[in-house]
Amino acid sequence: MKALILSGGKGTRLRPLTHTMAKQLVPVAGKPILGYVLDHIAQAGIKSVGVIISPETGQEVKDYLGTGKSWNLRIKYILQEEPLGLAHAVKTARDFLGNSDFVMYLGDNLLSQGVKDAIRNFKKARPDALIFLKEVDNPRQFGVAALNKDGSIRRLVEKPKRPPSNLALVGVYIFSSRIHEAIDRIKPSKRGELEITDAIQELINMGRPVLSKVLDGWWLDTGKKDDLLQANTIVLDEYINRNIKGRVDDNSKITGRVEVDRGARVVNSVIRGPVKICEGAEVVNSFIGPFTSIGEGVRIIDSVVEHSVILNGSLISGIERLEDSLIGRDSRVIKNSAQHKALRLMIGDDTVVEV
Ligand code: TTP
Repeated sequence: MKALILSGGKGTRLRPLTHTMAKQLVPVAGKPILGYVLDHIAQAGIKSVGVIISPETGQEVKDYLGTGKSWNLRIKYILQEEPLGLAHAVKTARDFLGNSDFVMYLGDNLLSQGVKDAIRNFKKARPDALIFLKEVDNPRQFGVAALNKDGSIRRLVEKPKRPPSNLALVGVYIFSSRIHEAIDRIKPSKRGELEITDAIQELINMGRPVLSKVLDGWWLDTGKKDDLLQANTIVLDEYINRNIKGRVDDNSKITGRVEVDRGARVVNSVIRGPVKICEGAEVVNSFIGPFTSIGEGVRIIDSVVEHSVILNGSLISGIERLEDSLIGRDSRVIKNSAQHKALRLMIGDDTVVEV
């Protein structure tokens, strides 16, 4: 069993952040999403991993993952010149995949339970595809499955106007090499992409066995701001333990599950977990509320920040209340006047906001 991780794409829904960084590298609870994906692949006992990269963000992805040694994995990078669809990405990786079974994992998706059990089930039942489904409120934005009464799949449709169910296809799939045959038979969709949904539908048309599993745990597609904040909330809640390695002065109070990394500093402030404060960050005369991730080298001065993700190197100063916000790298949010208003922001890297 090999793994194929898709880390190319355009990332239009996370603009402006993704003008300057790969969306798979946006940190959740202080760690890039792609890092959690690699954790899952390694936990499943897979050794050989292909990573699809784009010309724009490929180098950044390579810089983070390296050879895969930190996960005990062997990584082969596969350049997809243009984001022509998930099935196109599989086609691009054809040489790497050979005749192996493989797990395909979208690099901006997170599953609560990993893929170990699913791989075991795949090996036992030997279908040509095992897909995961999750009930969602807004099926129009996803690939959607219509099921037969016995739970088998009747039909799959990509972003349907009239969804046949509320069961969305999750961004993790397990395939046999038969998927290549199905991909060779499909044509690009109306939006010009070779859709993996169409390829799986083609497998069904070919009479090949396609199994599905409805997920009990959470699934997060982090491609949009609110989804990313939700991912941050869930991951902080699940993974963060109290661990104070940085310096906290006597005038500060830290309650609940808070991680303060080495080299970070908390002065005259209140931190209420779950909160992650990364290396080199400084929190001075401030309140940091639950579900906040503060990146490396960030400075928060005379401010209140809650339920937000602040990426590396940014400065938040004099802000009465910043909530539900995603702040790009090396940005500055500075308040000069004395108005009292909550701010809700999504700003890109290298931005300055003065209010
Ligand atoms: P999407 O989120 O469906 O596509 P996108 O990255 O182009 O984003 P947006 O809709 O915001 O413009 O992609 C899912 C994952 O698959 C994501 O991690 C990017 C990756 N991907 C590829 O590697 N190659 C591709 O051709 C496509 C479409 C996506």
